[in-house]
Amino acid sequence: MCREGIILSNIIASQEIHERYGGVVPELASRAHIQHIVPVVDAALKAAGCTIEDINAVAFTRSPGLIGSLLVGSQFAKSLALSLDIPLIAVHHMQAHVLANLIDDPKPSFPFLCLTISGGHTQIVLCRSPLNMEVIGETIDDAAGEAFDKTAKLLGLPYPGGPLIDQRAAHGNPARFSFPEPQIPGLNFSFSGLKTSILYFLQEQKARDPEFIEKNLADICASVQERIVTILLRKLKKAAQQTGIKNICIAGGVSANRGLRRSFEVLGSREQWNVFIPRFEYCTDNAAMIAIAGYYKFLAGDFAPLTVSASARAEW
Ligand code: KG4
Ligand code: ZN
Repeated sequence: MCREGIILSNIIASQEIHERYGGVVPELASRAHIQHIVPVVDAALKAAGCTIEDINAVAFTRSPGLIGSLLVGSQFAKSLALSLDIPLIAVHHMQAHVLANLIDDPKPSFPFLCLTISGGHTQIVLCRSPLNMEVIGETIDDAAGEAFDKTAKLLGLPYPGGPLIDQRAAHGNPARFSFPEPQIPGLNFSFSGLKTSILYFLQEQKARDPEFIEKNLADICASVQERIVTILLRKLKKAAQQTGIKNICIAGGVSANRGLRRSFEVLGSREQWNVFIPRFEYCTDNAAMIAIAGYYKFLAGDFAPLTVSASARAEW
């Protein structure tokens, strides 16, 4: 729930089901959405001290994502809009991640750059105004979150492994093992070569010592994290140099990573950037970022018809 750009409540139903299956099973995710949606909306109203009649617009995630889950949210939002006779607002998931930086003060002024890093996307976004954004760099294969999650899987850690690598890395030596940095032109990223090199490295080491992973887990996590962070920040620095923009943000699930947050701040002070990092709970997927995106669309009168449909694809 959001009132005039202020977040009143941010209720999230976590889906432990994915951990049991080592990844997201789309059908199970949509069924869990159906079970959770009414209690979550109810809890959000209560936490905000509001009733359903207080709502004067409803925002939902239209794209991109798993179509089953998007359909549950979009149908629910449409029903609410229709029954309360209020505007319906369609939000783009990746744009909402960027706008999470506009929730708390101090807010970045425009234009700003945002490194948006999630489980499915890795983008450098040039944001000229809340509703005017352009992707100026993105991954050509895996996303940064996938690099974390796939590495975690190779290390025998449960899904999603990003936060677990972050925890282990805090006790490890990032300089212990060295992984290659891909040479990708321009502002694009690649993480698939890193994944392959980690796979071969672990196979080789385990052939020598079957307990290699257990004995060196913290150092492996710290070294992999260090490489992912340097890949991300090198391109962000290049984007800042090319555009001359000094207001720089990060967003998305991977921006919760403590190693990245620290290195980003260090780089920012060296480059004399104004850096912005959302609070932890606004980095990984959350309701507040959809609400804040909805708020800016509301101000612009950017409403969706009831015929709007959810879309799995990422077009803006
Ligand atoms: O934005 P998000 O919550 O969902 C998507 O839109 O995909 O991002 C999820 C991704 C997962 O890959 C997860 O492992 C990663 O963010 N992640 C992290 C951390 N917290 C979440 N990766 C590294 N360190 C973290 N602390
Ligand atoms: Zn996300």
